[in-house]
Amino acid sequence: MTDYKQLIEAALEAQKRAYVPYSKFRVGAALLAHDGTVYGGCNLENASFGATNCAERTAFFRALYEGQREFDAIAIVGSKVDGPPSWAYPCGICRQVMAEFCSPDTFEVILALSTEEYKVFKLKDMFPYAFSPSNLD
Ligand code: THU
Repeated sequence: MTDYKQLIEAALEAQKRAYVPYSKFRVGAALLAHDGTVYGGCNLENASFGATNCAERTAFFRALYEGQREFDAIAIVGSKVDGPPSWAYPCGICRQVMAEFCSPDTFEVILALSTEEYKVFKLKDMFPYAFSPSNLD
């Protein structure tokens, strides 16, 4: 069973590493691989805005590079610099990356304001009708 509070704490830690000179919106993510390893990620912006990488994909790509291919959950936190936390729903591209590797029925997306205030979605509810690897079978 996923320890939501522990994963949210890891996302809050990761958020501190965000590089956000343009949007000033800091996102942190913590991705739980099936073997129990947690990978943090933050958003990394660029003067060429389209080159920005979201926190969720930073976490996924770190884990994928390490050889991980199975994932159970991701916690996501977001806030403006010096602002209160807000619900940071994952963007469409990040949802598509999740759909590549995660089971829609079991993978959990945890959106958090704090370790006390959070909501949990199944990937299938957050990203229904996904184009997925099975389309190409
Ligand atoms: N951002 C994320 O890190 N994850 C998302 O799913 C949505 C948006 C980042 C990208 C950019 O650095 C900032 O939030 C504002 O769009």
